[in-house]
Amino acid sequence: MNKGLIHRYHPWLGLPDLTPVTLGEGSTPMVHWADWGPHHIWLKLEGCNPTGSFKDRGMTVAVSQAKYEGATAVICASTGNTAASAAAYAGRGGLKAFVVVPHGQVALQKMIQASAYGAIILAVEGNFDQALSAVRHVAESEQWIALVNSVNPWRLRGQETGAYEILDDLGHAPAGFVLPVGNAGNISAYFHGFRRRGEGLPQMFGIQAQGADPLVQGHDLDNVSTVASAIRIGKPASAHLAREAVATTRGQFRSVSDDAILQAQKELAHGGVFVEPASAAAYAGLKMLYQEGRLPEGDIVAILTGNGLKDSATAGLWAAVEPQVVSSNELLTAIADLMTP
Ligand code: F0G
Repeated sequence: MNKGLIHRYHPWLGLPDLTPVTLGEGSTPMVHWADWGPHHIWLKLEGCNPTGSFKDRGMTVAVSQAKYEGATAVICASTGNTAASAAAYAGRGGLKAFVVVPHGQVALQKMIQASAYGAIILAVEGNFDQALSAVRHVAESEQWIALVNSVNPWRLRGQETGAYEILDDLGHAPAGFVLPVGNAGNISAYFHGFRRRGEGLPQMFGIQAQGADPLVQGHDLDNVSTVASAIRIGKPASAHLAREAVATTRGQFRSVSDDAILQAQKELAHGGVFVEPASAAAYAGLKMLYQEGRLPEGDIVAILTGNGLKDSATAGLWAAVEPQVVSSNELLTAIADLMTP
């Protein structure tokens, strides 16, 4: 039975005695993917959360707390996953959800998912960064509506549980840690999670997409583009926290090309792990760091943040969408032909 993260980690979360709004999030699989020489590679499958991404860890805490404080609605800006998660948890908690997306820049399935959960979707012209500043203004102006982006400290507190699970599963801190970075909330949450537990810190590597890599460039970007729409962000709200995480652990910010992202998505999928492009960026970064000899020895954990079904159209760029048509009495011959190398 999974009673959700607030139940599992209550003493660590600093929450009042509230009634959790939960969908049984967390406790995601950590798969031993391979041993690359002295590096033991683990993949944490965050796409197995209830709405298909890691956002549920933060959302259970943020929505529970917002409800406890008397909010009747939540609002967020989103590249898609926060929207779907906010919509689901608001629905579960009986709150209204408003999600604000950059017009035309969010994967269709994420829009449908948020809408199916009952959220009201508003699209603004511009990019994610403009959407975020617009929703911040709304939340600052009104008491009854809670902002559930990762600038909400309860979101980050909930996302710390990813670090707790890694420590509980491995029995110690990994040597290296790799994850995709967009608005930079998740890397900051993991850093604080590892630090709060006091069992050691992994070297932290934040991977961005080339074309949307402000942390690699060292300054905000006005125009961003990448196939990984979830991390198409030029002004990460938690940039300062993310820089602290990387500097303290002597890690790095790195970026990977769209081609490398799609290649990584394919390689993972052929091994049975279907993730969305933003998550594949982490794997592309992991491989790059390995090839450069940059990974520390020991356990390396990569966070695969979102499910491949979230944006399957992008996988359709390399996966065959049309089946081979065969007549039913020729099926055996067709298969035999396909089996011969
Ligand atoms: N991976 C996925 C699948 C995401 O959806 C996001 C962020 C990230 C990685 C990056 O995490 O922002 O904490 O650095 N998605 C946000 C959203 C922006 O609106 O769903 P981050």
